[in-house]
Amino acid sequence: LLLTNAGMVQFKDVFLGADKRSYVRAATSQKCMRVSGKHNDLENVGPSPRHHTFFEMLGNFSFGDYFKREAIDFAWRLLIDELGLDLERMWFTVYTDDDEAERLWIEAGAPPERVLRFGKKDNWWAMGDTGPCGPCSEIHYYWGDLDKQDASGVNVDDEYLEIWNLVFMQYDQKPDGEIVDLPAPSVDTGLGLERMASILQRTDNNYDTDAFLPIMARIQELAGQSDAERAENLYRYRAIADHARACTFLISDGVLPGNESRSYILRMILRRAARFGKLIGFEGPFLAGVADKVIEEMGAHYTDLIGKRDFILQTITAEEERFQRTLSTGLARLDEIMAELKAGGKTELPGEQAFFLWDTFGFPIDLTRDIIEEEGFTVDQAGFDTAMAAQKERSRASVEDKTALDVTVYGRLLNQLQAAGQLPAEGVTHLIYENIAEVDGLVLGLIAEGELVEEANVGTVVELVLPETPFYVESGGQISDTGEIYYFPETMDIPAWTVQVTGMARPVPGLIVHRGTVTSGTVRVSD
Ligand code: SER
Repeated sequence: LLLTNAGMVQFKDVFLGADKRSYVRAATSQKCMRVSGKHNDLENVGPSPRHHTFFEMLGNFSFGDYFKREAIDFAWRLLIDELGLDLERMWFTVYTDDDEAERLWIEAGAPPERVLRFGKKDNWWAMGDTGPCGPCSEIHYYWGDLDKQDASGVNVDDEYLEIWNLVFMQYDQKPDGEIVDLPAPSVDTGLGLERMASILQRTDNNYDTDAFLPIMARIQELAGQSDAERAENLYRYRAIADHARACTFLISDGVLPGNESRSYILRMILRRAARFGKLIGFEGPFLAGVADKVIEEMGAHYTDLIGKRDFILQTITAEEERFQRTLSTGLARLDEIMAELKAGGKTELPGEQAFFLWDTFGFPIDLTRDIIEEEGFTVDQAGFDTAMAAQKERSRASVEDKTALDVTVYGRLLNQLQAAGQLPAEGVTHLIYENIAEVDGLVLGLIAEGELVEEANVGTVVELVLPETPFYVESGGQISDTGEIYYFPETMDIPAWTVQVTGMARPVPGLIVHRGTVTSGTVRVSD
């Protein structure tokens, strides 16, 4: 799993019998993210009044201790006796052949006509493609007019809200398809905190509860919008509020924006929020202002957030700035592409185009999909995957296919560096979409007047090689980045030298050079 997507994740091995705890029962409040893999709610976030990427899941667990009877009894006592929910609004579901669970609900006090049976899609729970799983029993709460409810709406209409899932963990799904019994029947339940809050606070959606209202208000304040404008942009406000929470917690738990795995997810939802922000009128980075409210609201309990506040806010703003540089141009280009497709009677975005948007403008595929679906388009995911794989292959091959030794100064330098283990086989690392980057490594090479040199003084025109670079290198139409390089030795807080970079080049595959002039100090190889 990339992310904790259920309250039971940390208990997986306990269910499987591979781990033992000093307790056989537990109750939890768990940070969860449902934004990838088997449990992915991303597309619902915004339009849906009650789906989130990040949310808090409450749960109670039995590891071979209590089972169905107690789990159902506990749920009944909490919802009906303690919280006083209205039985006339409640529906209970059980797995197709789970006679026992049905009987237990009725014994607890549920009217028989309110206990319904569903199949695998609704009432069988699995953490992922493999691992602990079992039949489950869900409790739904009806929001609409009392006399309009009907069994046929459960698991169909939005007015029937799933609040609590009791999973009777009994099996382990093996990768080869076989299902085996767990060492002992166990219980895993999950109750969405935000949904329960919406019921207890009598609002028909999570965003009007005290968990979200202050965050929604902060967005409105930052945007300087009227209530009417906020209402017009409701879905965008919701998505931003949700994503601000998710980004805040992901960063506080150690995830940084990037191009792979969890880092990609953070980048993707942050960029999604940035785009929604642009659509409601923000012209620059704004998300840190929203995240700050999240920290203020949730920091009393999640005290980590307060200690990491500055880091969280800076990380968010840096990523937003990075995306802002390409967002408008990318959106304009995407509009053109869609117009061309429409003119040709097509509604599927080719994979190479989606890849182009990612490669050139930093549009995560999920964001592109999101945008074009609003216009009734789909995206060719397989084509995108192929284009991505082809690019990886190209950069690998260009390194390996270097048959004859390159005798130019660049070729010699690259060979030397690779032979000495100072550069990997792929060559210089390109930190794409970084605006400001700290390069942690040595000056690997200096070239002046076409020769390798050991140092260069103020005024010298140089080509400088580093192990990694945030500078974009011209290739196929785009122009190279320009900028500055500052060198800070550990003991100094003013730069020991600076180089003004006026152009970039990739003279041989794997080698990237910064071309420019030394504007202060003396640059030395190994600085
Ligand atoms: N694991 C179950 C769920 O996520 C119950 O906690 O719904």
